[in-house]
Amino acid sequence: MRIAVLASGRGSNLQSLITHWRRGTLKADIVGVGSDNIKAMALEIADQAGIPTRAFPMESYESKKDQETDILNWLEELGVELLVLAGYMRILSKDFIRRAEYPIINIHPSLLPSFPGLNAQKQALDYGVKVSGCTVHFVDEGVDSGPIILQQAVPVYEEDDVKSLSLRILKVEHQIYPEAVRLIAEGRVKRQGRRVIIFRDS
Ligand code: GRF
Repeated sequence: MRIAVLASGRGSNLQSLITHWRRGTLKADIVGVGSDNIKAMALEIADQAGIPTRAFPMESYESKKDQETDILNWLEELGVELLVLAGYMRILSKDFIRRAEYPIINIHPSLLPSFPGLNAQKQALDYGVKVSGCTVHFVDEGVDSGPIILQQAVPVYEEDDVKSLSLRILKVEHQIYPEAVRLIAEGRVKRQGRRVIIFRDS
C-alpha cells in the first residue's frame, strides 16, 4: 500500500512510521511527505530517510482551496492509497475530504470523543481526568470526529504537567500509529458506519 504523510512540525510520529517501515513491520511504503511548513523537522526527517518531500506553504497560494488542490494533485501523482496525518496543523476542508479517493487517518493525543481540537493534553489535565491516551481515527468532515480505529489509555498522575503527560501519550502514539497503518495495509480494518471492526491475527 502506498502511503503519504502530511506533517507540520517535529515529526516524531513520522519517524516512528519510518522506523517500522525499515523494520518491515509497516507493510506499506511511505512514498511522500508533505508539509505546510517549510521549516518542519518532519521534512528533514523524510529527506534523511530518502523519501520525496514537498512543501505547500500557505503564503505561496492565493487561497486554501488552491493549496489543497496542489496537495491533492501531488497525492494523485504519487498514487497514494492512504493519507496519514501526523501532526498536520491545518484542518482539511470538506471539499478536500470529498475529493480524496483514499482513506485519511489522523492521530490525536486524547481518548476521543473527549478533548478534540488543540491542546488536548492541557484540556485533559484542566478537566481533571485520571486516564487519558491517544486515538487513531479516520478523518471525516468534522474536527477529530471520525470513526475510531485504535485507542490506548495512559494514566494521569497528580504530579503531571502538560509536558509529562504529553510525553507519556507520545510514547504510546509511536506504537499505535504504525500498528493502525499495518492493520489497514493488511486489509484488516473494515468500517461499518461509525464502528470500525479490526480483524486481528488469529
Ligand atoms: C502528536 O501529539 C499528535 O497526536 C498530534 O500532533 C502531535 C504531532 O507530534 N496530532 P509529532 O510531530 O509527530 O512529533
